[in-house]
Amino acid sequence: MPALLQYRAGGRGNVLMSNTTGSQSAQPIDLIIDTDPGADDVIALLFALASPQELNVRALTTVAGNVRLDKTSRNARLALEWAGCEHVPVYAGASKPLVRKPVYAEHVHGEEGLPGVAVHEPKRGLAEGNAIDFLIDTLLAARPHSMTIAMLGPQTNLALALLREPQIVQGIKQVVVMGGAHFNGGNISPVAEFNLFADPHAAEVVLKSGADLVYLPLDVTHKILTSEARLEQIAALNNKAGKLVGDILQACIGGDMARYGIPGGPVHDATVIAYLLKPALFSGRSVNVVADSREGPTFGQTIVDWYDSLNAPKNAFWVDSGDAQGFFDLLTERLARL
Ligand code: BDR
Ligand code: CA
Repeated sequence: MPALLQYRAGGRGNVLMSNTTGSQSAQPIDLIIDTDPGADDVIALLFALASPQELNVRALTTVAGNVRLDKTSRNARLALEWAGCEHVPVYAGASKPLVRKPVYAEHVHGEEGLPGVAVHEPKRGLAEGNAIDFLIDTLLAARPHSMTIAMLGPQTNLALALLREPQIVQGIKQVVVMGGAHFNGGNISPVAEFNLFADPHAAEVVLKSGADLVYLPLDVTHKILTSEARLEQIAALNNKAGKLVGDILQACIGGDMARYGIPGGPVHDATVIAYLLKPALFSGRSVNVVADSREGPTFGQTIVDWYDSLNAPKNAFWVDSGDAQGFFDLLTERLARL
């Protein structure tokens, strides 16, 4: 697969860069996954946990989002159990957004937040303490710019941590966010993507924090879609992880295909893990992004200065396209290991 030309975040201005290695670094990435499982969150978790050579998953931090916090926290622990990674601690975080009333996505993820598979109470419980304290303690103790955060849900936990201890930003290497929509239109309102709509005030805090941010919005996730052949390659694994992922996808892709008139279903949060493992699969550019938290029709919208009209500081690397077959090949290869 030829490497795509990329624009990588690198301070002010766009930096044209070609990534031909396909892997971000020789050292494993120290990673915290902040998540609201969630069908695609669970797929992302299995994907990450199957990749220990590249990703050192230090902890999962959970947040209310797709469903209530007790259910997202249970589903996170289920993913660990399914991956045989119960040693990874799960810290429960915010049960509601910073300001707005909670909004859930049960219409997509079902009442339990996990469509297509049976859920149970996992053997391993939650870690003592909470996600916000864990983030603060870990990021304050970390080497400068050493910790990566995969942000798979509303950004409430990190926002609360930043509001309490702004200097934690020093410990952050990068925050890779699934969220937002610019070219694509929204999935919860005409202009808003769910994770931003669920807590735009939190996203504002993170966007203004000075952390190195990468956004994987609907613009790219709606281009990386399942197909019969891609579902078959996962089914052909004939292992537990392949069956779980196949069952979850079969249960939720139909709704998206019908609603958006697209030929397959997206696997939103898993694109964050693919980006961490193989950034050469993706391309985008450094931009200025703001989140709109004003009441009204644009609530939760991400406003992206793609053409640099404002000449404003670039606060995020906005990914707008990716190699769909490359994504599914990588996902399949990793699920084979579980
Ligand atoms: C995002 O919203 C959630 O429903 C998914 O888990 C994903 O994080 C997609 O808009
Ligand atoms: Ca999610």
